[in-house]
Amino acid sequence: MLVIEGLTRRFGDRVAVDDMCLEVPRGAFVGVIGRSGAGKSTLLRMVNRLAEPSAGRILWDGADVSALRGRALRDWRARCAMVFQGFNLSGRLDVLTNVLVGRLNKVPAHRSLLRLWSDADRAIALSALERFDIAELAAQRAEHLSGGQQQRVAIARALVQEPEIILADEPIASLDPRNTGLVMDALARINRDYGITVLCNLHSLDIARRYCDRLVGLSAGRLVFDGPPDALDADAARKLYGLEAAEVMDAAPSAPAHPSAVPFLAAT
Ligand SMILES: Nc1ncnc2c1ncn2[C@@H]1O[C@H](COP(=O)(O)OP(=O)(O)OP(=O)(O)O)[C@@H](O)[C@H]1O
Ligand SMILES: [Mg+2]
Repeated sequence: MLVIEGLTRRFGDRVAVDDMCLEVPRGAFVGVIGRSGAGKSTLLRMVNRLAEPSAGRILWDGADVSALRGRALRDWRARCAMVFQGFNLSGRLDVLTNVLVGRLNKVPAHRSLLRLWSDADRAIALSALERFDIAELAAQRAEHLSGGQQQRVAIARALVQEPEIILADEPIASLDPRNTGLVMDALARINRDYGITVLCNLHSLDIARRYCDRLVGLSAGRLVFDGPPDALDADAARKLYGLEAAEVMDAAPSAPAHPSAVPFLAAT
């Protein structure tokens, strides 16, 4: 369980995240929504410790991850994988090697320095690519892939890390509708089949309602909504999106559809 207590982050006199409290049980698929600048990325980055909190605590299964240093911090980062809007792949490296990077924390240092991947690690990386229907791209340079394919490679890399939580910061922001579906389905499968907790920042309320079992709404760094997608009514949307609320609500169907069930390889 992720517990966030009084979490605050200031940048000068601007408060990006303001005294936030949140509890996320294991296995949840939580959408973090809100306008641009609401504090969504800062929240996720603090959980991964890419940003330091100004105040408050972040606990995972009771352990305070906001206080970790050195080796313990690296271990935590291995247990909570990040997926970014810009994919963050090494474009000149092939797809399989990009996925293998997710195994770095699992292999001894001398082997990881020399990039001496075992057959077992290669098999794990390849099966992750198979899960997302991109195994045939394994030998291609990452930079030659489409955005949707690159994001699925990034999700495969996150999966082979064997994380307990995945933090996805606008993973579909630069994708067309078809690729949006493929990438969100990939995250949904990881969540469902492995019980990995997913915290996903989303601009699209429509997508958030369709995929998430809980929505957390931020406005000016404060938590102003926390509930199931169905509970996000016009009032709550106004608090979150202000004048854009009507527009956002119109674009979002009220009955959430569930992502299609897709056969998945056995959990590792
Ligand atoms: N490194 C930084 N230095 C200064 N201010 C920052 C920094 N990072 C974020 N902020 C500020 O903190 C606030 C929250 O930013 P954040 O990026 O978390 O919002 P967001 O909800 O992710 O927005 P978006 O939807 O545009 O990605 C904004 O006012 C932003 O300008
Ligand atoms: Mg952001």
